[in-house]
Amino acid sequence: MSFGPRSVVIKGTGSYTPANIKTNDDLAKIVDTSDEWIFTRTGIRERRIADDQENASDLGAKAAANALESAGLETQDIDLVIVATITPDMPFPSTACLIQTKLGIPNAVCMDIEAACSGFLYIMEVASSLLQSGRYRNALIVGTEKLSSILDWEDRTTCVLFGDGAGAAVLSLSDEPNVGVIDFKLGADGANGDVLYMPGGGCANPATPGSIDDRLHFLKMRGREVFKLAVKVMEQAATEILEQNGLESDQLACVIPHQANLRIIELLSSRLKIPMDRFFLNLDKYGNTSAASIPIALDEAYRAGRIKSGDLTLMVAFGAGLTWGAALVRC
Ligand code: ACO
Repeated sequence: MSFGPRSVVIKGTGSYTPANIKTNDDLAKIVDTSDEWIFTRTGIRERRIADDQENASDLGAKAAANALESAGLETQDIDLVIVATITPDMPFPSTACLIQTKLGIPNAVCMDIEAACSGFLYIMEVASSLLQSGRYRNALIVGTEKLSSILDWEDRTTCVLFGDGAGAAVLSLSDEPNVGVIDFKLGADGANGDVLYMPGGGCANPATPGSIDDRLHFLKMRGREVFKLAVKVMEQAATEILEQNGLESDQLACVIPHQANLRIIELLSSRLKIPMDRFFLNLDKYGNTSAASIPIALDEAYRAGRIKSGDLTLMVAFGAGLTWGAALVRC
């Protein structure tokens, strides 16, 4: 099945991660943990942490500039900017508008969409659909996160899992047949929203001295429940998207999973019967970068030669909401 009348192709990708590396041993100096615990439970060795002057829009703008360069396009070619983030610089204006200004994109529709770690697949489907409507030519889509700003650095059960970074892609229309985006399978289940959330900062719990004392402005997670739900929804989304396109898992050249936990990805590999060597992994270096995780991995997979022209690639993610999604692309 083709996604629409004209092909939408990934014309370029880019990524950016802050220079500052925090290893598991560094974290063991802050909270009661160890490299051994973190690595065996998650596969993470280190993560990048942005400095005080570097916000989600700065990380996103750098990744986006790389993506524009790899696409061979200029800022004036972009007429749509969509950003996925749970750590916007501020509630408004949108991080997309901030990135537009930082890059000097003269004329574009700009918006943020929030679907946590599934965010990049959500914005990819939205951008692809808008391109196919014929009203836009080239979309810049960016997943960017400064998760270090919402982590409780006294909570060892969460602060060891996440990192900062950004990834981006340029999507464009193409008349070439049988290339580009094939299909999406997105989903959500708001009833399970309380397994992973941040209670403070919105209108329900605006910032007050009390909300700060109660640590409401930090990410909260029930890790075990998230783990089980993650495996279930990612397996389901991947199976359904393959079935509805008449494809078998052994036809996939590369799988780009959300980089949250190696054990989740290993379970997915065994349930989908896709060998681990088809999965692109970089979570050992970056931890979970939420909406930035898939586009950073996609960019690194291209640059490492793990995805070649014509390769059938599956991206699959889950995140707070709950949200989940799968995307099939002929790269
Ligand atoms: N260091 C040392 N010990 C720890 C740490 C730590 N960093 N964190 C927890 N522990 C302890 C716990 O206190 C507990 O101790 P106890 O038995 O004395 O109570 C013990 O380790 C086991 O804790 P569990 O939570 O049961 O450990 P588990 O094996 O389930 O691993 C983990 C926890 C890694 C969080 C796992 O559940 C997981 O990866 N879940 C999925 C999380 C995830 O992917 N989140 C991202 C969602 S995407 C998004 O939208 C942001």
